[in-house]
Amino acid sequence: MSAGAPATTFSSAQVIGTPGQQPRPAPTGAPTRLPDAPARRLRVLLTGATGYIASQLLPTLQARYDVVLTDARGVHRDGSSIQDVHVLDFQSVEDDALRQLFAGCDAVIHLGYHKPTGPVTVGTRLAYEDERVNVDMAERVYRLSHEAGVHRVVMASSNHASDWYEPLIHARTLDQVTPADLPRSDNYYGWSKIAYEALGFTYATGAPGRRLEIVQVRIGAPRHIEEAHFVGNPVGFKRDLGAWISPRDLTQLIVRSVETPDIRNSDGVPFLIVNGVSNNTRGFWSIANARVAIGYAPEDDSEVFYADAIRHILLDHGDRGRVGTEPTGHCPHRSRKEYPA
Ligand SMILES: NC(=O)c1ccc[n+]([C@@H]2O[C@H](COP(=O)([O-])OP(=O)(O)OC[C@H]3O[C@@H](n4cnc5c(N)ncnc54)[C@H](O)[C@@H]3O)[C@@H](O)[C@H]2O)c1
Repeated sequence: MSAGAPATTFSSAQVIGTPGQQPRPAPTGAPTRLPDAPARRLRVLLTGATGYIASQLLPTLQARYDVVLTDARGVHRDGSSIQDVHVLDFQSVEDDALRQLFAGCDAVIHLGYHKPTGPVTVGTRLAYEDERVNVDMAERVYRLSHEAGVHRVVMASSNHASDWYEPLIHARTLDQVTPADLPRSDNYYGWSKIAYEALGFTYATGAPGRRLEIVQVRIGAPRHIEEAHFVGNPVGFKRDLGAWISPRDLTQLIVRSVETPDIRNSDGVPFLIVNGVSNNTRGFWSIANARVAIGYAPEDDSEVFYADAIRHILLDHGDRGRVGTEPTGHCPHRSRKEYPA
């Protein structure tokens, strides 16, 4: 890891969250590199079941597991319906109402997430309190999983748990961010992800009585990259190309996170952090440990999927290189506020 402060001091807080995201079809097709299904059909609790990420995973999860769905709302964001959702608010209901969901589950996939009402910039009270809700929710998921005898919890974390390093990547003074690097963020969103990850480790150690197996998936950019959105913003475009993950790769990563039998680290603690990006030519969130630890074998590469847009936005303007801008680039350096989450 290179030392020193990022080349620019700005916060990604303004751009975290992508409110326009709607359930997207799987343009890259169904996953073809899933492991063989476990001999026994697993029972899996899915929180945030009517949300954006869940919509990408559900077809495969429901084909493979007995899935228990829960969310604070019973319909998708666009109002379309979804069957058999237990509508419960993890912030306010009593533990007893939630215990029935966890009972008998082998694993929990936690996607439930309270969206902050404004920017998550550090130094603002509401932003802190908004994100703290998500830490409280994560603690509840770990605690109830532990009590109920659940073996494994797979948490939706984010690349923002390490987003402080991103300016170094764009400045071309760092090549990769790995899950082994100290988590660092400059905003409450990233801080809350770091906090859930750290809480998960305490449960994985076995201190509460038994080891709860934990996988933290630092999801990158799980969305379609709109060419029009990045005209004149090559840095932001390269950033999304590097962080992109296709629906089928995300699905494979989550399935492997649930099913890989042994996720113990070299100290014997069943705790793993993986980055959630496809096999992108311009990738800078390392997936090497995911390949080794859980056999993640992504099928897609943003370079192939967005080849036409890359020609229009980068190559036609002489913009070369995986990340950052050429010294003679056609566009002035952009502030990080312009990078999407
Ligand atoms: N979408 C992305 O670009 C992206 C990228 C990286 C990481 N992630 C992470 O993935 C997770 C899921 O994100 P998403 O995009 O699907 O979000 P989303 O907002 O679409 O889904 C979250 C779901 O959680 C539910 N929820 C909110 N508060 C709740 C509560 N108190 N009790 C129960 N349910 C509650 C919401 O109703 C919603 O359906 C989040 O942790 C997010 O940080 C998302």
